[in-house]
Amino acid sequence: MNIDFSNANVFVAGGTSGINLGIALAFAEAGANVGVMSRKQANIDTALTRLRACGRGWFAGYAADVRYPEQVEKALTDFARARGPITVLVSGAAGNFPALARDLSPNGFKTVVDIDLMGTFNVMNRAYPLLKKPGACLINISAPQACQAVAYQIHANAAKAGVDQVTRTLAKEWGSDGIRVNSITPGLIAGTEGVDRLLPKNGASEDSCADIARQVPLGRAGQIRDVANAALFLASDAGSYISGAVLPVDGAWGLTEIRL
Ligand code: HXC
Repeated sequence: MNIDFSNANVFVAGGTSGINLGIALAFAEAGANVGVMSRKQANIDTALTRLRACGRGWFAGYAADVRYPEQVEKALTDFARARGPITVLVSGAAGNFPALARDLSPNGFKTVVDIDLMGTFNVMNRAYPLLKKPGACLINISAPQACQAVAYQIHANAAKAGVDQVTRTLAKEWGSDGIRVNSITPGLIAGTEGVDRLLPKNGASEDSCADIARQVPLGRAGQIRDVANAALFLASDAGSYISGAVLPVDGAWGLTEIRL
């Protein structure tokens, strides 16, 4: 996709691994300045090396946990002080593990809700004063279980449904500032921690991604780049009238009954 994001200031929460790193790299390739934020300094260092290898913009990493608003605020403020108002903000930090509801402790449920849902709110809420108005594009990373009750996923089912409602609410409240807010819903995406972490734990083999890919109407798992392309599209002028949308990038997997 040939889209130019030169001089754009793109901040990706959770942007040091998996789908979120793929999104950060895609914006870097398109010329953007990119800030990435995650908990682990080692992941930040690796991500910065990859960003510098593929982009010509300005790059920085911030160690912060999305569960702590003051840490999030500091990272966002440091980025905006260095580069100016944020033009694209991606909130994708997530935590997950498979557990049946009867076996899950209240703290286990709370942990995923705190990371996925509270974390999304914290990123959006703390970023508001720092966003380009008009013109900022915000993207929350959702999951197919926002729309259907997937077993072993009660925490993420609840949290990601909430994330999509955060998206819709902000699209309404911040539309008059010229801010667009959308969710992207990645499906079965190969080579991600989500797949590695969730699928083998349920008794499937190492080929579980390939097995589940057969349930996907398009007949294959997606690639991280498929999701990154959707983010580029939403943030580009081509997406300028899209706000409040929840965009699946899943080969229609979400329309089938998902069994992990
Ligand atoms: C049951 C578990 C558990 C498990 C943790 N808990 N792992 N319960 N089964 N496998 C419980 C703990 O017992 C504890 O409750 C509570 O959760 C908090 O655990 P901690 O380890 O203290 O939390 P923390 O160190 O903050 O770790 C967060 C985490 C962890 C989410 C639990 O798994 C993590 O950091 N994961 C890395 C990020 C990640 O998961 N990425 C993949 C996202 S994929 P008690 O009661 O004992 O105190 C994704 C997309 C999915 O989101 C879409 C697929 C289609």
